[in-house]
Amino acid sequence: MPPRDWDASSYDRMSDPQLAMARDVIDRLDLRGDERVLDAGCGTGRVTEVLAQRVPDGKVIAVDGSQKMVDETRKRGITAFTADLAELTLDEPVDAILSTATFHWIPYHERLFARLHAALEPGGRLAAQCGGAGNVGNVQAAIDAVDHPALRGWDGPWNFATPAQTTERLQRAGFSDVWAWLQPWLVEPEDPKQYFTTVILGSHLERLPEEDREPFVDAVLAHGTHANYVRLNILARRR
Ligand SMILES: C[S@@+](CC[C@H](N)C(=O)[O-])C[C@H]1O[C@@H](n2cnc3c(N)ncnc32)[C@H](O)[C@@H]1O
Repeated sequence: MPPRDWDASSYDRMSDPQLAMARDVIDRLDLRGDERVLDAGCGTGRVTEVLAQRVPDGKVIAVDGSQKMVDETRKRGITAFTADLAELTLDEPVDAILSTATFHWIPYHERLFARLHAALEPGGRLAAQCGGAGNVGNVQAAIDAVDHPALRGWDGPWNFATPAQTTERLQRAGFSDVWAWLQPWLVEPEDPKQYFTTVILGSHLERLPEEDREPFVDAVLAHGTHANYVRLNILARRR
């Protein structure tokens, strides 16, 4: 299935938590300042903008599966193009790849990691963070409790992997020096309704009849307005 489009302007307003989570991931790339870096799954480019400040003598390229997200990123003056990361090919390999809050939206991590490996120069580094095993467990429990008929029998949109699965998949794709670990991160959004609608439940809502969408979000929020994120951090290097 191709990646879905997003409500980019709402995501831009709601994504303070994602920007906060991304800062440590950027730090882990330990950039000199002259590298070519890919932001894989750039969203509206808020994280990409911070990344670009770290490579004043280098270059940032941004990729996202959603045209609306790419349009927002370009408004920030960043070179961006639309592609499914699981099918990614770059004209020129990069020295490093950053990816935040994206891999768990992609069903086939084996294929994804193979494409990212091919996009890196030998010795190139990957620093990523996405939802990992147990991510937003309280929200999933609320979704299950609400039990909307249109969602029954569906596995859901997320691929929350464990560190062990991820380490094995990265090594099989040809990466070395692999580190993968989980990190709990509580998010209490200022505007829970808009945040859940845009950032967490977008794929669920697409499966519901229009008139059920707002009541569904309200019903999920009745179980709690916070989200217990569990982030999967990833560091790896192309041999
Ligand atoms: C939650 S946003 C994260 C954006 C940004 N990295 C951040 O941290 O704010 C997830 C992004 O992944 C993108 N995405 C999901 N599946 C994708 C795929 N298969 N290929 C490319 N981008 C994808 C979405 O379009 C969306 O912009």
